[in-house]
Amino acid sequence: VSGRPSAACALVLAAGLGKRMRSALPKVLHPVGGRPMVLRVLQAARGAGLAEAVVVTGRGADAVEEAVRAGLGQQSSFVCSFARQEEQLGTGHAALRGLPLCRAQDVLILPGDAPLLQADELRRVLEAHAAAGAGVTLLTARLSDPTGYGRIVRDPDGGVRAIVEERDADPGQRAITEIFTLVACFRRDLLASALGECGTENAQGELYLPDAVRVARARGELVQALLAREPADVLGVNDRRALAAAEAALRARVLGALMEAGVTVTDPATTFVDEAAQVAPDVRLLPMTVVEGACRIAAGCEVGPGAHLRDSVLEAGCRVWHSVVEGSTLGPGCAVGPYAHLRPGCRLGRDVVVGNFAEVKNAVLGDGTKQHHHSYVGDADLGAAVNVGAGVVTVNFDGQRKHRTTVGDGAFLGCNANLIAPIEIGRGAFVAAGSTCDGPDPAGALGIARARLEVREGWVARRNALPPPPP
Ligand code: UD1
Ligand code: CA
Repeated sequence: VSGRPSAACALVLAAGLGKRMRSALPKVLHPVGGRPMVLRVLQAARGAGLAEAVVVTGRGADAVEEAVRAGLGQQSSFVCSFARQEEQLGTGHAALRGLPLCRAQDVLILPGDAPLLQADELRRVLEAHAAAGAGVTLLTARLSDPTGYGRIVRDPDGGVRAIVEERDADPGQRAITEIFTLVACFRRDLLASALGECGTENAQGELYLPDAVRVARARGELVQALLAREPADVLGVNDRRALAAAEAALRARVLGALMEAGVTVTDPATTFVDEAAQVAPDVRLLPMTVVEGACRIAAGCEVGPGAHLRDSVLEAGCRVWHSVVEGSTLGPGCAVGPYAHLRPGCRLGRDVVVGNFAEVKNAVLGDGTKQHHHSYVGDADLGAAVNVGAGVVTVNFDGQRKHRTTVGDGAFLGCNANLIAPIEIGRGAFVAAGSTCDGPDPAGALGIARARLEVREGWVARRNALPPPPP
């Protein structure tokens, strides 16, 4: 975080009903890019250098507060507290609920439903506010379609006179394309006293935060406005269409940054990458790929088509296609897929192959080990250059507890072998196809546990000669 800590406290308005979402989930908890909107707003505030935030909650307050606590985690550098607004009587009313918890000299009002806000933009507002010693610094934006937003009404001298909500605007005001973002820095005492003078004589019968601007201006306070550099970033999400638009915009932002950094994204429309991911230059992300959580993907990897990675590490030159990889680490040059599933806790060495319909869980596969086909390896430690045949199953669960399987370097596990854990297969040992092994197979030995083939010559002809069964 560059810039000095500001004296301002963020005041996030997040108590609204979100009626237009038509959702059981509080609006500000709808995720964008995998994180609740309100958390994104708080992260932008923290990124802007603020150390303190108050979140005003109401609808679904418990859930919102819990999500914020969980999302922020333990951060001694950022303190977040909550104020309740039991009845949603407007954004100004919400701000009044939160204000007593803000002790800083200035308050940065933030909407809980603007997930695309960026730290830089907020920092600009804070800095302009401090530099001018302003009473109010508004963030505004020029939109080609201002529908639904409050309009910025200016005096002939260019100063902001008032903000008029769409529903209260006359046709002339509706034609204004400069809108209020609901991002505004106020001197704390000014906001409190100005809101105290505002009424609820408007189309919604609510106490509007934007009305405080009119009062401040009338008192001769310095009210300044900053135009957003990126108008798309101030989007307020009021309905599901806007939610999808926010998702698309965020995705474009993340993928754009990756492409600028040298990552190939062949189909941005079907590629989803968490911004917490680290993707090296010359990685190729192919269509229908999802990279979730804090993944790290090293140079030369090819991910997709159809790959879903979550919280995983791919060392250089790996290939993952039509497969799911969760909570696992792949060494250099590994190949996974198609149709493989690496569940959490896997560690693959160098040049490991996990192929068609293979499932691996909480297992170590040493360098050069191959698990090409239909098989399950769970709770296991496989050495280097082990061959896992088709249909091999580690029988790791006895109905009560999980047990571990150990396989030495160079061992050969024949097709359809069942390894009943706990069990140890020695270095270079061979397990015959179809064996159900209930004990160790020592190094260099052949373990075989299966019935012999019994051959009955002429059996088919004799059966066919029998009279057909009655109908
Ligand atoms: C608001 C602004 C509008 C601005 C737009 C920017 C007002 C009256 N209007 O309109 O000028 O252009 O945001 O997106 O402020 N909330 C509460 N308690 C309430 C009402 C709302 O906490 O009683 C919260 C909501 O949860 C939401 C935020 O305030 O996060 C904004 O409320 P919303 O109803 O979405 O306002 P808009 O109609 O979008
Ligand atoms: Ca809104």
